[in-house]
Amino acid sequence: MKLFEVYPLYDVQPTRAKDVYVYDAEGTAYLDLYGGHAVISIGHSHPHYIQSLHEQLDNIAFYSNAIQNPWQQKLADAIGEHSCLHDYQLFMCSSGAEAIENALKMASFHTGKKRVLAFKGAFHGRTSAAVAVTDNQKIIAPLNAQQAVCFVPFEDHQAVEKELQKGDVCAVIFEPIQGVGGLDTPSKEFIIQLERLCQHYNTCLIADEVQSGFSRSGTFFAFQNTSIKPHIITMAKGMGNGFPVGGILIHPDLKAQYGLLGTTFGGNHLACRAALAVLDVLKRDKLQEHAGQMEQYFREKAAQIPGVKIKGRGLMLGLEFDFEVGPLRKRLIHEKHIFTGGSSNKKVLRILPPLTVQTEHFDAFFTALHDVL
Ligand SMILES: Cc1ncc(COP(=O)(O)O)c(C=O)c1O
Repeated sequence: MKLFEVYPLYDVQPTRAKDVYVYDAEGTAYLDLYGGHAVISIGHSHPHYIQSLHEQLDNIAFYSNAIQNPWQQKLADAIGEHSCLHDYQLFMCSSGAEAIENALKMASFHTGKKRVLAFKGAFHGRTSAAVAVTDNQKIIAPLNAQQAVCFVPFEDHQAVEKELQKGDVCAVIFEPIQGVGGLDTPSKEFIIQLERLCQHYNTCLIADEVQSGFSRSGTFFAFQNTSIKPHIITMAKGMGNGFPVGGILIHPDLKAQYGLLGTTFGGNHLACRAALAVLDVLKRDKLQEHAGQMEQYFREKAAQIPGVKIKGRGLMLGLEFDFEVGPLRKRLIHEKHIFTGGSSNKKVLRILPPLTVQTEHFDAFFTALHDVL
């Protein structure tokens, strides 16, 4: 059987991985400054993560959401502790797009409205409502186009208010740091305005933290450099360090009812143990603070490259050049054995390493970048 070829592939075949490196069958080490698309948070094959998953596999790996699974409550408590959002409620699912679907659905249930306001450059996933609120016509099928969505630019609070005034908007969804779009970031003032407008017009504010959450930005959630309290927060990627797990945090004003949301796989025993192991290591190794320190180091080194613009925050960073970076990324992989990310802004090289990255890894990256430039 042939694979359905939707991914353009690099000719690299990793067979094992450790911390910030992946290795091919010949033992060639690749420095992973991409983290498998911002997924690897505590480092590849972390011993505590492996031990937690092994232990759980030896007991029970999965049962449906029809039984008591105390690991879900343990995880909710741990997320509450890390994020200080103790009064929120956790619903678990298995991917970023699924988190977005559930967030939008909750906003629509809660407000009784159906239109969504999203932002230019947004990426929220590829499933039905998630892709409809993604600013990329090429991946929106006619089926998805029936969703009622409008896109406005960041910072244009008048455009936001004009739409909310119409009274039919259930949710405003935003990425506190745009990922796939190329690291554009709304200002703190604009985010605070969004909260105010959403409160005024009975609209839910959704912070999409699928990529920026779980300490990658230097705060637990990226929006937490402001005082806002979104109605719903989506999370996935770094939450499981490679195990497929996602979830939403729901403000106490939004009430649960049996059957309102549901999933077969979401919140299974293994998924909870993976996420708990991630939180243990984030805390024990102070990786959130470390992300902030590594950002400073990265910025100092990057500032020495003439004409390059540094974007993003924490370990969700981008270098914007005045040329398209596709060929540069290829040379970094094949000649220097360094993985980096691209974005829909073709001039941005994305840096999304495991949060365990050290100064020597950035030194190696900048030396390699200097050579290939
Ligand atoms: C901000 C954001 N939201 C949602 C998604 C969708 O996540 P997934 O690919 O797990 O469905 C992504 C994926 O890149 C993302 O970056």
